[in-house]
Amino acid sequence: MRLLTTKVKPFLKWAGGKTQLLSQLALKFPIELKLGIIKRYVEPFIGGGAVFFHVATLYEIEEFVISDINPEIVLCYRVIREDVQALLDMLDELQFSYDKLSIEQQERVFYEIREQFNSSLHSTHFQEISKDTVLRVAQTIFLNHTCFNGLFRVNSKGGFNVPFGKYKNPTFHERNNLLEIAEILRDTNVLCGDFSICNEFAESKTFYYFDPPYRPISATSAFTSYSASNFNDDSQKRLANNFRYLDKQEAKLMLSNSNPKNGNINDNFFEHLYDGFTISTVMAARAINSQGSKRGQILELLITNY
Ligand SMILES: C[S@@+](CC[C@H](N)C(=O)[O-])C[C@H]1O[C@@H](n2cnc3c(N)ncnc32)[C@H](O)[C@@H]1O
Repeated sequence: MRLLTTKVKPFLKWAGGKTQLLSQLALKFPIELKLGIIKRYVEPFIGGGAVFFHVATLYEIEEFVISDINPEIVLCYRVIREDVQALLDMLDELQFSYDKLSIEQQERVFYEIREQFNSSLHSTHFQEISKDTVLRVAQTIFLNHTCFNGLFRVNSKGGFNVPFGKYKNPTFHERNNLLEIAEILRDTNVLCGDFSICNEFAESKTFYYFDPPYRPISATSAFTSYSASNFNDDSQKRLANNFRYLDKQEAKLMLSNSNPKNGNINDNFFEHLYDGFTISTVMAARAINSQGSKRGQILELLITNY
């Protein structure tokens, strides 16, 4: 893996994206990462990939493994890795024609593309890199940057259902950024599935970072629809058991989550689940909430096995 001099930014806006927490998270990375002992980085809930891009640009690591249960997001990473040029061509064309439109015309184009995106879901071969899947990724990036609040939300049938965002002159890609990302991805194994598919990579020189969907703080903030699947308390328990298993394999582990104490000071859910590990808190400005108005500082949990 070559070290890049420029900063790489996530190519998608992602609910729960970690960009604004990077400096605080970096302080808690294992010393073995800074000393160059870690040879493999694994991130099983990759989402927008802010932490992955940060680690990939700053540390000399031989192998990366990223994964997500959401096939749309996995397809994005695979297409960027396999055919970034075709994707850039499509995005350039889309950006060029979109920039010339009035806001009303842009809104119409947004809904047309959303409709095409949703109606081609069942005919999409997510394993293939083809003209169709490159187009789908271009549409994903376009919709993500032009929709309301920059979300990627699907309904129970897998349809993208976020309305138009009324942004003035949105830029939905940066050529050099995508080229740098393609370079990083050349050394990256990109998997699709449940977090447990990443277990086979555990050994003492592996560092795992887990950023699962937040445990909702209250019923009204049950904002976990990154994909059609739901990550509930049973999933959190399964993840904690998985964490214990990986700890026994001597991998270095770090996990973040929302702190339930933001809503109820007596909620010890994570203290019970991660008893025996190091639990600390960091301050996060929650960027995207189910109610855009409710933003602000909130405590976030960081759990490590070192
Ligand atoms: C909080 S987001 C990750 C945000 C990311 N760290 C960032 O900076 O953008 C959680 C991700 O977990 C994925 N996910 C949900 N359930 C999962 C599961 N059982 N296994 C793997 N990934 C899952 C979602 O699709 C989503 O992309």
